Amino acid sequence: MITVTRIGKHLGAEISGVDLSQPLDDNTFAQIANAFFDNEVAFFRNQHLTPAQQIAFTRRFGTLEAHVRKESRLGGHDEIFVLSNKLDANGKAIGAQDAGRFWHSDLSYKRQPSMLSALYAVEVPVKDGVALGNTYFASSTAAYAALPEATKQRVDSLRNVHSYREYRLKNYAAQQGEEQRGIRTVQEHAPTPEQLASVPDTEMNVVRVHPVTKRKGLFINEGHTAYLTGISRAESDAELASLYAHIIQPEFIYGHSWRVGDLLMWDNIAVQHKATFDYDPLPRLMYRTTVRGPVVM
Ligand code: SIN
Repeated sequence: MITVTRIGKHLGAEISGVDLSQPLDDNTFAQIANAFFDNEVAFFRNQHLTPAQQIAFTRRFGTLEAHVRKESRLGGHDEIFVLSNKLDANGKAIGAQDAGRFWHSDLSYKRQPSMLSALYAVEVPVKDGVALGNTYFASSTAAYAALPEATKQRVDSLRNVHSYREYRLKNYAAQQGEEQRGIRTVQEHAPTPEQLASVPDTEMNVVRVHPVTKRKGLFINEGHTAYLTGISRAESDAELASLYAHIIQPEFIYGHSWRVGDLLMWDNIAVQHKATFDYDPLPRLMYRTTVRGPVVM
């Protein structure tokens, strides 16, 4: 029997009473899946998972993605995307160091954006007894529900374009700026022409109905949304800025302070998230698996 403890006002729960390294019976898995979708972000403490066990657990939710950034996949386990500021013996980055700089939903630029992601904490930076590198999650379903009726009606008919190409260029420029200001010490790879060309821009509705909970949510994010269609770029920028400010209000946010052995899952349709780069050069190592979602319209 699992125990579910809600943490945030609108999202975030701890699930205890389960060892994810072991195969789960259908009933236990169904309880976990229900709790997860209901709470939008759920975490399990004190897990001891091999990459294969993380893959086996998350595969119960659907098809796993292999990330477009091949250089950041875990050797022998293509389904695991490595997030880390660590270097190998040759001074080469062992994973992506820049993931999550902007509020975003994983792989939202794809025709089949991610349904959920699971991040397993292998090494967590700690300074003076305080864990660094928190991850923040904002519920875009709670944010949508709180909009005035007139705004709901307006955004219900809007469409937006998500662009991997624009995101990578923006992310790289931001990272270079940080390097120049001495904020970060590790040089990230520039996106390759092959990567930039590999994912075409995708147009989709601003408002999505969640396939499991049927909640409506705002499927826009500052990382991947390039613009709203049918209006000028200036109007689009203003509308997006206003909606982003609404979504990231404190009441819609859950911030996670990591411990080694945490396996945390988030619902990419219902929430968006952002990493914190406050720990370099202390080492951080996380393994992410990502489950493919339905086609967006
Ligand atoms: C991400 O998946 O966006 C990264 C989150 C994190 O490293 O905190």
